Amino acid sequence: MNITFRQLQIFRVVAKSLSFTHAAEELFLSQPAVSMQVKQLENVVGIPLYEQLGKTIHLTEAGKLMYLFSIEIHRQFNETKKELDDLKGIEGGLLQVSVATTVNYYAARLLSKYCQKYNRVRINLDVTNRATLLAKLECNETDIVLMGSVPNNSDLVVEPFMENPLVIIAPPNHPLVDEKRIPIRKIKDDTLLMREVGSGTRLAMERFFLEKKNFKLISMIEMNSNEAIKQSVEAGLGLGIVSQHTIELEQEIGRLKVLDVANFPIMEDWNIIYRKGKRLSAAAESFRQFIHKNEN
Ligand code: PGA
Repeated sequence: MNITFRQLQIFRVVAKSLSFTHAAEELFLSQPAVSMQVKQLENVVGIPLYEQLGKTIHLTEAGKLMYLFSIEIHRQFNETKKELDDLKGIEGGLLQVSVATTVNYYAARLLSKYCQKYNRVRINLDVTNRATLLAKLECNETDIVLMGSVPNNSDLVVEPFMENPLVIIAPPNHPLVDEKRIPIRKIKDDTLLMREVGSGTRLAMERFFLEKKNFKLISMIEMNSNEAIKQSVEAGLGLGIVSQHTIELEQEIGRLKVLDVANFPIMEDWNIIYRKGKRLSAAAESFRQFIHKNEN
């Protein structure tokens, strides 16, 4: 059946008012033009949609069915149009943002401020480690990623927005807590709690220890969350390497101390990352600018 949207639109108005004259007025068309569209619709459907008894129009059973159908199409059209309008603007758009687990400590506050300003933007936040974020970028599964360093040869736009110092944390009763510029060899007997393979923190840490060729850690334990590392350090399991941004609260209440180790902190950057050629939605673009303008 080759029913056109225009035919349905005109038939809906005729069936609603049960008058060709009223329909023509409402649609700003001539009466013959309205009659012709309804006639064409009847031809396509192959069955009469109305009957004229005296001066009054009555819908046939087929006409009533077609009227319900035209109302439903009209409703769906309006809904879709509204969503498309929303997508064109920031208001009501969808922001898909994926962040490294470490960045989430900061991103949560950032998003909260962004939402106060753009309160109709719908947010989809995904928190995961570096390796998964790179895979998501590769498959175009997200608008914007916030994470640390990315491979050099990548097909990505990388915009640094904040420093990410990685520090060595210890429980408050650790013997080195008050020492200044502690040589790295002094911590080699401590167990070091480190993030899982695939994490940006782990990568930065491995790069750092690779440069210190004469330094060998004796004991390491791997954990896949910053929280697990912080709690284990607090409990006395060993020392940890984490982002300074993740320990604000624990430092403030004195549960964790940062050791003043020589060559630390390891300075990394956090970046806004998206694929080259990606057409950012209005919401994603406004979020990108919001981060850069330091409105946070
Ligand atoms: P991660 O993130 O260690 O939680 O993966 C840190 C980063 O990307 O720098």
